[in-house]
Amino acid sequence: MATATLDRASALDRDASDPLRAFRDRFVFADDGVIYLDGNSLGRLPRETPTRVAELIEQNWGERLIRAWTEGWLELPLEIGDRIGEALLGAAKGQVAIADSTTVCFYKLASAALQARPDRTEIVTDRDNFPTDRYVLESLAARNGMRIRWVEADPHRGPEPDQVKELIGAQTALVTFTHVSYRSAFVLDMGSTTRLAHDAGALMLWDLSHSIGAVPVQLDAEDVDLAVGCTYKYLNGGPGAPAFLYVARRLQEELRQPIWGWLGRQDPFEMAPGYEPAEGITAMLSGTPPVIALAAVSAGADLVIEAGIDGIRRKAMQLTDYAIAVTDELLAPLGVSVGSPRDAIRRGAHVALVHPDARALSTRLIDGGVIVDFRTPDVIRLGLSPLTTSFADVWDGLSRLREILSVRG
Ligand SMILES: Cc1ncc(COP(=O)(O)O)c(C=O)c1O
Repeated sequence: MATATLDRASALDRDASDPLRAFRDRFVFADDGVIYLDGNSLGRLPRETPTRVAELIEQNWGERLIRAWTEGWLELPLEIGDRIGEALLGAAKGQVAIADSTTVCFYKLASAALQARPDRTEIVTDRDNFPTDRYVLESLAARNGMRIRWVEADPHRGPEPDQVKELIGAQTALVTFTHVSYRSAFVLDMGSTTRLAHDAGALMLWDLSHSIGAVPVQLDAEDVDLAVGCTYKYLNGGPGAPAFLYVARRLQEELRQPIWGWLGRQDPFEMAPGYEPAEGITAMLSGTPPVIALAAVSAGADLVIEAGIDGIRRKAMQLTDYAIAVTDELLAPLGVSVGSPRDAIRRGAHVALVHPDARALSTRLIDGGVIVDFRTPDVIRLGLSPLTTSFADVWDGLSRLREILSVRG
């Protein structure tokens, strides 16, 4: 990227030629003074969402009452699952459901995988995996008398294939990684990593929380076994929105998740004795679906599907390239370095800026209306959600950081 193009006017030029620019108007921008660079923690509110949620509440709940369960509510987890599966995950129908929180979905699928490999004693993941994934694995390992083999990866690069290969073996029951690292945005190679797990006879579980709606994946084509991910980040499903889970059709008969609730059972309304898993992905459900939250997930996901994941990915690469170029130009002389891969193919839709005072700098930025995330120990994380972030936002946010650093001297 040429140095001469790095100023506010050229950022505005980039915005003017952005094919996705009209999508910004489909979201609520309540405070024009705020520069929001945290769409990968909580996506912005789509304008459509309050209407969709209000309709569901007033018409379905208010008017139809209990009848609404059999007039569409019970189908919502699979219906929305199919929609995001086909458009965003490369998953044919019948393999994705919106279920519980990401943590609970991860627990269900990881435990099902361990149960399917009862003679094996090891789980492989990386030391820098997202905390909730690590904690769930630690709990499962402790309960099942298993051990975790930790990949000690460079946090700015992510696990290298050789490091992963070295730890996978005949004792490995489950291999699990986050596809786009929550800190560095490093993208792991899904196909080759999944093959490493399969070659050893292990199952592979991906956390797609920072991928869905930002980086296209092909779960069926890459022969993935299991996946989970958040819907409140790039899908803009709202705070605490329920997560999705994917189980490849070829494993659905074999895998048994541990929370045997009535809505994962055959004929739940028969109230019969004993648990008989429902057919297909339905067996991964447990309790009553969060219908109001699902209306919000549906509205957010529809916008992403309408914009198209390939265009979103293109813009994510351009925005993050741009943030890196501006950082090199404006901030490197002030001690800030880039903690994300420089190759856009290997990077998700956020950028990690590294500085020893990242915590204090993040607080200063947020206090001044530039909303970023701090990630321990030394990262200011910029989430550049492509449908809602402009090039001018990136320029303005990073210019603010330069001002703060310049005044500190
Ligand atoms: C990779 C990853 N997994 C899981 C989660 C969160 O899980 P939950 O929605 O259960 O809090 C996050 C949240 O940021 C995440 O980044």
